[in-house]
Amino acid sequence: MRLIIALSLLLSVAFATILENGQPRYNPYPGQARWLETGIEDADWITYAPDAEEISYKGRWDEQYISWWSAPGIKFAFTGEKLALTFGEHTVNGVLVAYRVGGQDWEFANVTANDTYQFVGPWTTGVNLTEATAQRTFEMRVQLAGVSVDADAALYEVKPFPKMVEIIGDSLSSGDFATYEGLSSWAYLFAAGLGNVEYHLTAYPGVCLFDKNCWGNPRGLIYQWYRTSDTSPRARDIYGENPPNWYFRGQQPADLVVINIGTNDNNSANNVSSTDYYNDYVKLVGDIHKIWPKAQIVLMSLWGGFGPSADTYVQGPLFVDEIRNVYRHYQRKKGNFIHYFDTTGILQHNDIAPQWHPTDVGHIKVAAHFMQWVKMTFGWEMEATGAMVHSGTLYWNDQDSY
Ligand SMILES: *[C@@H]1O[C@H](CO)[C@@H](O)[C@H](O)[C@H]1NC(C)=O
Ligand SMILES: *[C@@H]1O[C@H](CO)[C@@H](O)[C@H](O)[C@H]1NC(C)=O
Ligand SMILES: *[C@@H]1O[C@H](CO)[C@@H](O)[C@H](O)[C@H]1NC(C)=O
Ligand SMILES: *[C@@H]1O[C@H](CO)[C@@H](O)[C@H](O)[C@H]1NC(C)=O
Ligand SMILES: *[C@@H]1O[C@H](CO)[C@@H](O)[C@H](O)[C@H]1NC(C)=O
Repeated sequence: MRLIIALSLLLSVAFATILENGQPRYNPYPGQARWLETGIEDADWITYAPDAEEISYKGRWDEQYISWWSAPGIKFAFTGEKLALTFGEHTVNGVLVAYRVGGQDWEFANVTANDTYQFVGPWTTGVNLTEATAQRTFEMRVQLAGVSVDADAALYEVKPFPKMVEIIGDSLSSGDFATYEGLSSWAYLFAAGLGNVEYHLTAYPGVCLFDKNCWGNPRGLIYQWYRTSDTSPRARDIYGENPPNWYFRGQQPADLVVINIGTNDNNSANNVSSTDYYNDYVKLVGDIHKIWPKAQIVLMSLWGGFGPSADTYVQGPLFVDEIRNVYRHYQRKKGNFIHYFDTTGILQHNDIAPQWHPTDVGHIKVAAHFMQWVKMTFGWEMEATGAMVHSGTLYWNDQDSY
């Protein structure tokens, strides 16, 4: 049986070569999908349109089934032994997609626009673990255009997890320069590591909070966070100056909102004043509280950078007073929803290098400390107890040779 889903799926960043310590990574895309040259036309497939109710969309997607921001995804269950996806015309050519079948490990493939790729076949690990009539989950993180399965098989909806996490940030939260970008970011590692939460990672490289052009992003998050699309050139091509408003009431409400924004505002190249930053931060928190009155809101301190000094290295956190003042502002208003998470001391200088962004290990450290803090503060349990969260780390040594 086959299903075809017509989704227009996009990843925000196209990967050509994945470097690892300066060398091209050996086998960068374990799980390359098989290109179906003739598409999905023969009678032994069933195709589902992207609006099929069996398909759950994770993160922000627009009406054309184009995905935005960091690590958006789809999830459903299917029967049968084959599954193909068709990618829409707005797909970035060569974009990296991450997927997993039946709760097994993440696999990676690069795909092209307007094309169909078979992701599941007899060769797939896990496909023989259960009967063909059993439902297996399929989860993918990226942009999409259509889903096809065996003609006598079907798609099924997978119930969402009960809690929702929203993470608002810039490149530090979207995993820039980490091995698998969004799938290597502390934001993803934190949410996926909790195991029983849905997550929206509304983070985009280079953005400021304050509404101005920062590093080529035309708008700041105080404008863009309220929109469906991010600040990419692709969004500008599709929507021009008028991106659609995000329909907050259409999504599962956030229970926890984590904000890590301002590193770009703090860069003197962007010339954002302390007052403008503070005022916009106060507005953002107030708006989030209005949108999701029951959500806990965590202000994550900005870890900044490190410099050699005297006998050691010294950390220089950013906008320290400003963020603390936003926290105090809501505390004074008896806001029992506001929290401050101090990242100082979690990272050391070699966890941020050489591009001023956390290494894979740096991301893991932030995620691990934050998970524990969330458990102690809110009583949330860590419910991922085996399934792969971080892909690609075994590579970094669990071997008996040096
Ligand atoms: C995909 O198809 C659309 C519509 O037919 C076309 O405009 C576009 O150029 C195609 N893109 C690629 C990369 O082939
Ligand atoms: C996909 O990645 C392989 C390397 O693994 C590369 O040879 C190929 O050109 C890439 N395809 C696209 C469409 O980017
Ligand atoms: C699954 O079973 C089929 C048929 O017996 C076999 O050809 C295929 O290699 C098996 N796949 C895996 C991944 O073991
Ligand atoms: C920085 O912003 C201030 C206040 O908006 C403005 O007066 C000044 O000209 C700006 N400086 C630069 C170099 O853009
Ligand atoms: C960045 O934050 C630091 C620490 O709070 C502050 O001393 C500095 O003036 C800020 N720089 C800019 C350009 O905003």
